[in-house]
Amino acid sequence: MLLEIDGLTKMYKKGARANDDISLEVDAGQVLGLLGHNGAGKTTLLNQVVGLVKPTSGTIRIDGRDPVADPAMARRVCALQPQAQAPLTGITPRQAIETMARIRGASRQRARQRTDELIEALELAPWASTVGEKLSGGVQRLTAFCMAAAEPGRVVMFDEPTNDVDPVRRRLLWEQVRALGAAGVAVVLVTHNVIEAERAVQRLVILDQGRVVAHGTPAELRGQDADRLRLEVVAADEPTAHRLAGDVDAVEPAVVAGRRVAVPIATGTATATLAWAQEQRDAGRVDEFSVTPVSLEDVYIRLVGTENGADATEEVGHAALAA
Ligand SMILES: Nc1ncnc2c1ncn2[C@@H]1O[C@H](COP(=O)(O)OP(=O)(O)OP(=O)(O)O)[C@@H](O)[C@H]1O
Ligand SMILES: [Mg+2]
Repeated sequence: MLLEIDGLTKMYKKGARANDDISLEVDAGQVLGLLGHNGAGKTTLLNQVVGLVKPTSGTIRIDGRDPVADPAMARRVCALQPQAQAPLTGITPRQAIETMARIRGASRQRARQRTDELIEALELAPWASTVGEKLSGGVQRLTAFCMAAAEPGRVVMFDEPTNDVDPVRRRLLWEQVRALGAAGVAVVLVTHNVIEAERAVQRLVILDQGRVVAHGTPAELRGQDADRLRLEVVAADEPTAHRLAGDVDAVEPAVVAGRRVAVPIATGTATATLAWAQEQRDAGRVDEFSVTPVSLEDVYIRLVGTENGADATEEVGHAALAA
C-alpha cells in the first residue's frame, strides 16, 4: 500500500477532534475521493500527509515512511493542490506550472512537455501567457491543479480542485485525474462535487465530524439504497407541491423546494407511482416528473445528514436536475 493511514487523530485544541481515529489506504494507481461537510476534517487530513500539520496520535506511512519524522520526504513524494491557493502575482500559468514541475524534480524537457500537455488538456491556452493578477478565479484554480499534476510524485492530493471551474473544464479535469491514476499515481481527491467525482474515483471515504462514516466503491455505497428510487415532481404551483408531497407512497419524507418535490420511493412501487404521476399531469397539477436511481449525493446526504450543511436540501434538487 502506497499511502497508509491508521488511527489518525488531530486535536487543534483540547476536546475538539478535527480528525478522529481515521484509517484509510490508497494504493498506486488508485483514485480515492474524500467527501465531507465543511469542517469535517478533509484539509486537516491532507495537511498531515504532507507533513504540514502534526498528528495528535495515529500513524501515516507513505511507501512505508513516516511524514511526521521526515516532512522533507513527504513533500518530495507527495504533490498537493492546496484549498487556499497562493496568488500567482507577476507570473503566468505557463511559468507557474513549468516552474513547479522543475522544483518537483522534472527535467527541463519533461517540465515543458507536461506543461504543454496540461494546458492543452484543460483548454487553458488563451490564458497561458497572462499574468496571474489578471486571471479569473477558475483559471487560477485550474493553474493550481496543473501545478500539482505536472510532476505529481507518487502521491498527489487535490483539495477541491473544481471549485470555480466551469462544467466543460470540470469534465476535462476529471479526465486528467483519471489519467494520473492510470499512470500509477496514488490520488486523493477532496471534493463537494459528489456526483461528478464518481466519474473519477474508484473508492470513496465519507467524513462526518472528523470520523469515517462510510468507505467503499460508489456501487457499494449506493448498494445500501438499491431498493430505492427517487421521484422528482415539478408541480403547477407551490401549494400543489405541498399537497402532492403528502400523497406519495414514500419511504422517507419528501423534500419540497418551491414547486419541486423530491421523494424516495420503494422500487416495488415505481409502476404505481408513475401511473399516479401521469394522472396528476393529465389533471394539470404536475408539469413534469421523473423517477431515477438514487444518486451518490442522496447517499451522502442520508449518511452525513443535513445538520452540517445548511444547503443540503437544496442540493437534493440539483442532484435530480443533473440526473
Ligand atoms: N489551524 C487550525 N487551528 C484550529 N482549528 C482548526 C485549524 N484548522 C482547522 N481547524 C478546525 O478543524 C476542523 C476541520 O477543518 P478542516 O479545514 O480540516 O475541514 P474541511 O473538511 O477541509 O472543511 P471545508 O470543506 O470547509 O474545507 C474545523 O472545525 C476547523 O475549524
Ligand atoms: Mg478543506
